[in-house]
Amino acid sequence: MKKLLAAFVFAALPTLGFAAGGEGVHLDKVDIDLTDKAAMQDGARTFANYCMGCHSAKFQRYERVADDLGIPHEIMLENLVFTGAKIGDHMNNSMHSEDAKVWFGAAPPDLTLVARVRGNDWLYTYLRSFYADPTRPLGANNKVFPNVGMPNVLVGLQGNQVIGCKQVQVVTDGKKQFDPLTGAPITHEACDQLTVEPNTGTLSEAEFDDKIKNLVTFLAYSANPVKLESQRIGTYVLLYLAFFFVFAYLLKREYWKDVH
Ligand code: HEC
Repeated sequence: MKKLLAAFVFAALPTLGFAAGGEGVHLDKVDIDLTDKAAMQDGARTFANYCMGCHSAKFQRYERVADDLGIPHEIMLENLVFTGAKIGDHMNNSMHSEDAKVWFGAAPPDLTLVARVRGNDWLYTYLRSFYADPTRPLGANNKVFPNVGMPNVLVGLQGNQVIGCKQVQVVTDGKKQFDPLTGAPITHEACDQLTVEPNTGTLSEAEFDDKIKNLVTFLAYSANPVKLESQRIGTYVLLYLAFFFVFAYLLKREYWKDVH
C-alpha cells in the first residue's frame, strides 16, 4: 500500500510543479518543431539581441549552437556574439548577479535549461504576458509571473500591452458562441484581459507570436541539444534490431530442426 501511495505521489509531482509555476493562469499552447532550423536561427538572434544582456546560457557553447543550427562561424561571431567571446566559449554574459539583485530585485537566472524546468507553453505565455503597471519599479508586470523582476524588454516589438476588463466572446466546450437569431457573437465582460494598444509596436500580433514561438524553439533546443541526435540514432537501433531479429529467428529454426 505504501509503495502504491509513493508511486502515486511521484506520478503527481510533475503536475504539482506545473501548477506552482503557472500559478493557475491559463497557458497558451505552442507547437514547436525542433527540426526547423530557420526558426531556431531567428530565436537565437532574438536571444542574443534581447536576452543575453542579462541572461546567460552558460552550459552551451557558441560553436555548438552555430554548428547545430547551420550558422557559419563568422556570421555567428559578427551577429550573435556581443561580449568579445571566442567561438569556443560558453554563452556567458558579463552581468554580476550581485549587481542584478540590486537593480531588479532578483538575479536573472541562466536560461540554458529553462525550457525543461518551466515547459514550452509556460515560456510562450510568459514572454507574451508582460503589461504596463506603473506601480512596479520598472513599469511592467507579468500575468504569468506576478511582480516579476524582469522589465518588459520586448515592448518595442510587441507594443504597449495593458490589462483590464473587456468584452470577450463566450466559449463553451471549445466552441465560440453566437446568438442564434442575429448571428452576433455572444460576449461577456472579463477582467484581467491583456490588450495591445494598436500601432505601438513594430510587429503585428501574429508576427510577435511567431517571434516568440521561434525564441521558445531555440530555448527548447538549448535545453536538450542532443534530442534530435538521439531520435536519429534510435531509429537506426530499431531498424538494426528488426533486421537482427529475422536472422536470429532463421538461425533458431536451423538449430531446432534436428532436435524435434
Ligand atoms: C534587463 C534585464 C533582463 C533582460 C534583458 C531579460 N531578462 Fe529575463 N529576467 C530578468 C530578471 C531580473 C529575472 C528574474 C525575475 C524574478 O525572479 O523576479 C528574469 C526572469 C526570466 C525568466 C523566468 C525564469 C524562471 O524560471 O524563473 C525567463 C524565462 C526569462 N527571464 C526569459 C527572458 C528572455 C527570453 C529574454 C529575452 C527576450 C529576457 N528574459 C530578457 C532580467 C532580464
